[in-house]
Amino acid sequence: MKNRILCGYALSGALVLLAACGQKEISFKADVQPILKQYCMECHAAGGQGTEKSGLQVTSYDSLMKGTRFGAIIKPGDTLTSAMIMLVEGRADASIKMPHGKASLPREKIDLLKRWVEQGAKNN
Ligand code: HEC
Repeated sequence: MKNRILCGYALSGALVLLAACGQKEISFKADVQPILKQYCMECHAAGGQGTEKSGLQVTSYDSLMKGTRFGAIIKPGDTLTSAMIMLVEGRADASIKMPHGKASLPREKIDLLKRWVEQGAKNN
């Protein structure tokens, strides 16, 4: 009985390890920035309506990490409460789902953003 429990732990541990090892490191420059450019920048750069309203610019790593005039939208390691992820997943009020008034990002782009945040939202 005791052994069984231990094995169960070992197995789930191995799966977690496998899942972690199987993930390539997401790059801000190669993976994240092109998504921001394609889906967010038309409104979240100087003069854009998103920047006018929220203060958020996504034109550089530093401006993205600075967030809106109310604060950060990314908590490194935490996809659940990072506002950027909540908004692209449509987990917040529909009126602030991003991209604003447009179709959602494709699932694989959202996954890239999530994995980048999960991996610490590095400037890599
Ligand atoms: C078509 C224009 C447009 C696009 C494209 C767009 N946004 Fe926005 N964004 C806005 C506007 C307008 C607001 C202000 C919404 C409000 O407060 O009513 C906003 C607000 C935000 C906020 C702050 C929300 C809050 O009130 O806390 C975040 C974060 C955000 N956008 C992220 C993004 C991300 C990430 C993308 C790309 C995936 C994106 N936006 C694409 C227009 C846009």
